[in-house]
Amino acid sequence: MCGIFGCILKNGNAAPVIHSSLKRLEYRGYDSVGIATISDGKIFLKKDQGKIDEVHKCINLDDLPGNIGIGHTRWATHGAPLHVNSHPHSDCTGTITVVHNGIIENFGDLKLELQNLGHAFVSKTDTEVIPHLIEEIMKNKLGSSFADAVQEAIKRLEGSFALAAISSYEPDKIVCARNESPLVLGVSDNGVFCASDIPAFLPLTNKVVMINNGELIILTVEGYQIKKIQDNSLVERVPETIEWTAEMAVKQGYPHFMIKEIHEQPEVLRNTLRLQDRYLDLLSTFLDRATEIFLVACGTSYHACLAASYMFSKLSFLPTYPVYASEFIEQYGKSVNIDSTILAVSQSGETADTIAAVTCAQQRAATILSLTNVIGSTLTRVSRVYVGTQAGPEIGVAATKTFTSQLSVLVQLALRLAKKRGKVSQDEIDVLEVQLDKLPDIVDVIVKTQEDKVKQIAHKYANSKVFFFLGRGISTATAFEGRLKLMEIAYVPSIAFPAGESKHGPISLIENGLPVVFVCQKDETHKTVIGNIMEMKARGAKILAIIEEGDNEIKALADDYIEVPKGVPSVLSPIPFAVPLQLLAYYMALEHDCDPDMPRNLAKSVTVK
Ligand code: G6P
Repeated sequence: MCGIFGCILKNGNAAPVIHSSLKRLEYRGYDSVGIATISDGKIFLKKDQGKIDEVHKCINLDDLPGNIGIGHTRWATHGAPLHVNSHPHSDCTGTITVVHNGIIENFGDLKLELQNLGHAFVSKTDTEVIPHLIEEIMKNKLGSSFADAVQEAIKRLEGSFALAAISSYEPDKIVCARNESPLVLGVSDNGVFCASDIPAFLPLTNKVVMINNGELIILTVEGYQIKKIQDNSLVERVPETIEWTAEMAVKQGYPHFMIKEIHEQPEVLRNTLRLQDRYLDLLSTFLDRATEIFLVACGTSYHACLAASYMFSKLSFLPTYPVYASEFIEQYGKSVNIDSTILAVSQSGETADTIAAVTCAQQRAATILSLTNVIGSTLTRVSRVYVGTQAGPEIGVAATKTFTSQLSVLVQLALRLAKKRGKVSQDEIDVLEVQLDKLPDIVDVIVKTQEDKVKQIAHKYANSKVFFFLGRGISTATAFEGRLKLMEIAYVPSIAFPAGESKHGPISLIENGLPVVFVCQKDETHKTVIGNIMEMKARGAKILAIIEEGDNEIKALADDYIEVPKGVPSVLSPIPFAVPLQLLAYYMALEHDCDPDMPRNLAKSVTVK
């Protein structure tokens, strides 16, 4: 994620304003902080790794001079959370400096090109190519304005960005731009602001200008000018007044972080699908060589591992063992060895059981790979190779966006391995890749079209004392995750089983009116799932089915159904099919007057064994 902020004030110093505004963006990341200002035609810059308060204590962020500046609070994606990787990033001459949120997909190629032209890079970030690119354009097109050079540079960037740039050549302005990553402007009597999000400037103004993709903005003390990047045409847009309280603003108008994070999934998936090929290549090379692979995790991350074991098996013909981290040492502690590979999955990278399992395996010379949302966490430090999920901070205790982003990395990994191992035809891989790219839009459609229906269903079943969740094949993992969500935030005792296994015990609990949630992706398990639905119906269960749009066979059997757009291949199905279950848990928690963000007895990061 990351938070960016910029301001030009008519009166007063910018640095303290940037500092306090970044504090309100800290929920977007807190790996490092940095501020750059301009005074007397010179750039002043301070930055360091660590949370804002820690850094401020050491280097006083408030004493930078000048009425104009930009700032950044970071959530590391490219490059560890170190001083050198902290924003703002500058060009070779130190006259151009940039803050950025997003991912520049083609930064590797651009960096090489700029290095060949003599540019010296100091960080491992994707962002650093931007100031160097602007510098190069200004050098070659003498006389071109700073804004024109930023515009030219942006045209070469692939990926997502919200950025703000300043230059001592034109010390009276900030140039900012947006493609996919959020950016808003604030306008007050004392100046103008640009930020990743409204809460950043809410105590200063409630007059807001929304910025669209493909727009570039020039901020000066007089105000703002918006242009379309592609054709340079001017855009007229007047500020709107928003009536949010500070608390509503942090949640962007959503009542809880959990629902905000459910809604963020399309954006997060888009970012996760932009993962650099080289990370996936490296991980898949290790997995390809492995003799035995354990997928180790806790909670929701374990469910991602369970789904991944189907993905690896079906796509890459690679057997893997999903294991609860808390069981790993007892189950495999003696047998794990130099030929074993552990792929540990953890949102926080700090879960005590996961770290203990990994440490045990490491001591026995196993190879440790990991997937985590927190670069710089303990897990990344003990891993041979790690990859980040690009989901940004998740504040709701119940994992939602990190689950779907973990799955989207894991399926990309399985696809990469499938290619490497030549087990699946190129045509099949092409189809899957096209469908994978459609997932962010599909999730968007689910949230937009099914949320009200899920809310009504939650109301209808609010008094049910027990829920069942059943699925077959890869949907077993989705069913398990749906159960966990409902149980942990709505406190409804719930049972999840592979649908076939339900006959071996759980079915004895079924009685009239008991809701059974079936996860029914349309694949080779479909017919058998229908059989399982019939078995449950015959015993009086109410069937609540998550189905593919237009699945008339199951529609005819179900008491209630929620539809997921057509055509999602089975191996990708846990990503969209999990979303209605997240919504169900959320609305059920509201029906029960529970706070979904802070379920009792639970913690976001469990650092005890
Ligand atoms: C806790 C959280 C869950 C999470 C699990 C594993 O139980 O409440 O949401 O799935 O820990 O956490 P990790 O950070 O390792 O993914």
